[in-house]
Amino acid sequence: MKAFIHGEINEYIQWHDTDGNIINASDGGIIYADGKYHWYGQALRPLSDKEGGQKTTRGVVMYESENLLDWKYEGVILATSDDPESELFAPMRFERPKIIYNEKTKQYVLWCHYVKHPGNHGNRDGEAEAGVAVCDRVCGEYKWIGTSRPIDNKGFVRDSTLYKDADGSAYFIYDRHVLEGEGKTQFTKGDRCLHVVKLSDDYLSFTDTYKRIDAAFWREAPAIVYKDGYYYIVTSGLTGWQTNQAEAFRTKHLLDEWESIGDPCIDDETHTTFNTQSTFSFKVEGTDTHIMMFERHNTNNFAECSYIWLPVEFNEDNTISLRYRKEWSF
Ligand code: DGJ
Repeated sequence: MKAFIHGEINEYIQWHDTDGNIINASDGGIIYADGKYHWYGQALRPLSDKEGGQKTTRGVVMYESENLLDWKYEGVILATSDDPESELFAPMRFERPKIIYNEKTKQYVLWCHYVKHPGNHGNRDGEAEAGVAVCDRVCGEYKWIGTSRPIDNKGFVRDSTLYKDADGSAYFIYDRHVLEGEGKTQFTKGDRCLHVVKLSDDYLSFTDTYKRIDAAFWREAPAIVYKDGYYYIVTSGLTGWQTNQAEAFRTKHLLDEWESIGDPCIDDETHTTFNTQSTFSFKVEGTDTHIMMFERHNTNNFAECSYIWLPVEFNEDNTISLRYRKEWSF
């Protein structure tokens, strides 16, 4: 039987598409539509960290599958440009892209952390933005709409994700970085904290409704899962591409207070989220299984990062647990 293969926690196991090519869809997500799972992410370059392998010269790519194990490459859905005048001039970054469907407008909406050419993280205009694109098909050519910053222009956009709630409202969750203010000083100064921002009805812009997740101070890589009245966010610390210990938070209402529930990783002796970083969570259709996606970033070759997908365990005390599995199937 086919299974998700992860190997030891220091191994980089390659996953291949149905053509035999390595799957290169970094820090993206899964959307179920038209009877299939669609896995998308940013296609990274096969260069080391110093040479900018974490940037893209292709864009966001998509794969599709009926069983979550056999993935057919469908192509680039949001392409970079070779026009120096374009906002999408490569190399650049569509970091942590996420897609949700808007029932009212019948459009698929993609948000990401946008970094302009040449794709270096920074604090200037165009280097720390939220970017949005739309398409009327899940696997089509997404049209780039542009960039903006939620809440106010002072807050740089770093890692982000999307969450669509049961009532159709949608939220942009991001690591907001304000340079002024007291903060940790590991890499940069300032106040960095996860925020939840409600999107407009068409999901194409931000509303003024938001919540600072005070407990998630100096955290990134948010992956959200909901079950039985609680929303849970799994996050990482901020150590660049180096892995670190996960911390999860929970709340009953997205715009209410959140509280830490600690590290959900069981027997993670190295305190490194099993040598991965959180990406996204989705539910397997027709089952009660929620899979949380993680990535083992391969800084020697970014085009060959490893994907680690683990089932989320929901505990009676309204906490969650994650257990490493070298391989598993459902
Ligand atoms: C960690 C973040 O989670 C990634 O999305 C990326 O921004 C790297 N840092 C860059 O160092």
